[in-house]
Amino acid sequence: MEIVEKMTLNVDRIRKDFPIFDYPDNNNLTYLDNAATTQRPTQVLEEISRYYREYNANTHRGAYRNAEKATLAYEDAREKIARLINARSSREIIFVRGATEAINTAARGWGDRFVRPDDEILITEMEHHSNIVPWQMLVKRRNARLCYWAFDERNGMLEPDGLRIMLSSSTRLLALTHVSNALGTINPVKEIIHAAHARKITVLVDAAQSIPHMPVDVQDLDADMLVFSGHKLYGPTGIGVFYAKEEILNAMDPVQFGGDMIEHVDYFESTWNDLPWKFEGGTPNIAGGIGLGAAVDYVNQIGMEIISGHEKQLVQYALEKLSGVEGVRVYGPMDPDQHGSAVSFTLDRVHPHDLATWLDQHNIAIRSGHHCAQPVMRKLGVPATARISFGVYNTIQEIDRFIIALEQAKEYFSKWL
Ligand code: ALA
Repeated sequence: MEIVEKMTLNVDRIRKDFPIFDYPDNNNLTYLDNAATTQRPTQVLEEISRYYREYNANTHRGAYRNAEKATLAYEDAREKIARLINARSSREIIFVRGATEAINTAARGWGDRFVRPDDEILITEMEHHSNIVPWQMLVKRRNARLCYWAFDERNGMLEPDGLRIMLSSSTRLLALTHVSNALGTINPVKEIIHAAHARKITVLVDAAQSIPHMPVDVQDLDADMLVFSGHKLYGPTGIGVFYAKEEILNAMDPVQFGGDMIEHVDYFESTWNDLPWKFEGGTPNIAGGIGLGAAVDYVNQIGMEIISGHEKQLVQYALEKLSGVEGVRVYGPMDPDQHGSAVSFTLDRVHPHDLATWLDQHNIAIRSGHHCAQPVMRKLGVPATARISFGVYNTIQEIDRFIIALEQAKEYFSKWL
């Protein structure tokens, strides 16, 4: 794969890595739903296929050659992920099904152990459901309280004073998204973590919408826990990462009990395996882990900085173009430095689902709905938004194509209103 030409990205060459764009049914597909899931490059598909075809075996169990090979490949993927986010050690990388399972693991394994009655869990109003519901359930179990840090609906930014106002001596955990999937807002998590740590508050970062689009360094951020999904990073579905500092993982209880996560099992008592396997009961998603490792190789070969620069250009262009369409309201920050790779908007008097269906007929895939962030919609005062979101293979020409189709949709729907 020859991708990098100086600091810019050769998108034509990159698109050739993604077989979905060559499939006849997808002729001329403009895929703008990367915040929901990305496409997979051949390099990832081949690595998964190679595992099943050439050395399929269970990990950590067999004494034969293929079992050893599968274990090495799976653990090698863990190392790659540790390097991607600059974890101190691969012991801090727990494979889970996705960001949702990672947050549930934190709520059960850390929350049930450390949250006491009347403690507070602070989240923001811009969280995805997966960073709301596990905490709702935790505070019910522990008789604790859930508090919300508000955002300003005019610019999609967290209220600057919100953290100071909301943090209290009862706050045990702050859980917040790095980049909002519904508003696109990039939160200044490094500064926020610093402020929370000054009050000895543990911080969990939902990095599902940042990891695929920008360099993320857990040591630089000083994140206590950080989660993301593989399928938004050009990897397979059903695999994701729960990162936590080693001392936190050591103090946590496992939440999935069974084979491989144990050290010793007696009739009535058991002891736990070392990190990271203490949290990985049962046969893991071996192909998923190996595929995610290949996806990490893929983005590294291009360069995370280059991907980030490319997508920032797309976001800037999309924000400008969308704001120029009469009847369109764009949500979230208008400054591309504060706006991640998802741009939410509404078109006056056209339901986002109608718009998405219309665009689909023109081979343009966008997401419409509440984006699994119903409190955000409530705050914005809309039932749903339309959302375009970018990946490494998107182009300025695709945004032009989308804007032309949007103008046509506006004209089409105006006849019926
Ligand atoms: N969380 C994903 C999205 O925003 C599914 O579309």
